[in-house]
Amino acid sequence: MVSHSCANNTFLFWFSNEHSNFRLAEMEALFKYFQLDRAILDRRKAKGPFVLMDFPDESGPRKLMSKTVLAHSCYELWASGVALEDLHENMKLNLHLVAPFVDDSFQFRVDTYGKTLTHKEKLPLIDTFEYMPLDGKVDLKTPELSLHLIQFFGMDPNRVPEYPYQQYFGRWLFDGQRRLVSKINLKDRKFIGNTSMDPLLSLLMANLALVKPNDIVLDPFVGTGSLLVASALMNAYVVGSDIDYLMVHAKTSSSRARQKKRASDESIRANLKQYGVENQYLDVVVADASRPLWKDDFKFDAIITDPPYGIREPTEKIGTSRQSPDYKIKEEHLALHIPSKISYTLQDIFSDLLNYSSKKLNIGGRLVLWIPISRTEYDEDKLPRNPALALVSNCEQTLTSTASRRLLVYEKIKEPTESCTTVLDGSALMYRFKFFEVDPTTHRRARKAKSVQEFGKSSKRGQQQSS
Ligand SMILES: C[S@@+](CC[C@H](N)C(=O)[O-])C[C@H]1O[C@@H](n2cnc3c(N)ncnc32)[C@H](O)[C@@H]1O
Repeated sequence: MVSHSCANNTFLFWFSNEHSNFRLAEMEALFKYFQLDRAILDRRKAKGPFVLMDFPDESGPRKLMSKTVLAHSCYELWASGVALEDLHENMKLNLHLVAPFVDDSFQFRVDTYGKTLTHKEKLPLIDTFEYMPLDGKVDLKTPELSLHLIQFFGMDPNRVPEYPYQQYFGRWLFDGQRRLVSKINLKDRKFIGNTSMDPLLSLLMANLALVKPNDIVLDPFVGTGSLLVASALMNAYVVGSDIDYLMVHAKTSSSRARQKKRASDESIRANLKQYGVENQYLDVVVADASRPLWKDDFKFDAIITDPPYGIREPTEKIGTSRQSPDYKIKEEHLALHIPSKISYTLQDIFSDLLNYSSKKLNIGGRLVLWIPISRTEYDEDKLPRNPALALVSNCEQTLTSTASRRLLVYEKIKEPTESCTTVLDGSALMYRFKFFEVDPTTHRRARKAKSVQEFGKSSKRGQQQSS
């Protein structure tokens, strides 16, 4: 495909509203993945969901849009302005940009953010572009040229201005990979469970892990394999393990409201088959993440995982508090032996995971994980650290006023020495007992007392708050 270049080389990326905290992390990862000039990202200008970046031509934007799940569309910017008149003035100086498309079939569209316009309101806006030198036919279905006036009415739905804060005009170039998010939706997926990872976040994690074709990706807490699905769609070979035999064999009770029994053919492999990537499936095995089973000299390109948080279910590993550590099960009992389990603290889960990843990743390979955090006790210095792993991104997803989970990305920078162990100050972790503690700021009686104190007993606000 020919890469057009434009006069000012500015490209407009329109991000979806969800997970705005993760935008920069995804873009940083994709810049690295495609080896694009990082200075372009550093010079970006952002306004609400719009990000402007200058590239020499459209090849960089095309690459980014071929992977991103957070940006939904990308345009070559032809003009911009706060007022429509300014935008037109700007466009009239850039009419040479239209030259390659003069004979193309075309359409004009008005897209808005923060306000809905009716078709009737949009038409006069389109008419203001009648000076554009376009000789092709109008084609509203499959035009060769799609021109968009994009109006930004701000982020506050309660204070929508009469006129837009900013207007952009440009040529639509590419859509992002939102269609993949719909393709792997949980509603239609063969095998899901209560903790199946959201499709958008699964794909985002694979992007952050820089997953590329033919990589070997491990999820040591694989559950129903959502993270394997995302990695397999990026043509990586995937392998997983989970301590729960019933989970690995898709025999846990169904999490679908109207399904009493799971179908006999549910499995992680079936999920991959459903999406046409069964050939990327290596295997899943029943194994305890605290006792890794992979050969010492075998390395992974990425480890992507969502360990248990111990909030909805206990965190466990194989072990016994009664026997000594060198206790051996008698030979005749081995075949039918079901190991007992002991509690696996969050601190140990994350320490083991980082220690293990520091050994089992290739240099440059990434570990991407979620960690439950107490928002009141969070401090970046308390996050797990390992000398062989550099923390390259850290984004928060808020769960409640006191709890969040953080998506952490580590990159292996060197082989660990004997003394390379993980340091983790567990005080910022969100333990089950903290999660279910009543948040004093949301407790009804405390709210009432606070508002009476702030606004007085007879004030309207004080009365409203206490009702
Ligand atoms: C949050 S879920 C993972 C969900 C998964 N990402 C998915 O999309 O279905 C955590 C998983 O870790 C497993 N698990 C808990 N303790 C474990 C251990 N010690 N070793 C391996 N897996 C464990 C649980 O059985 C559970 O399936």
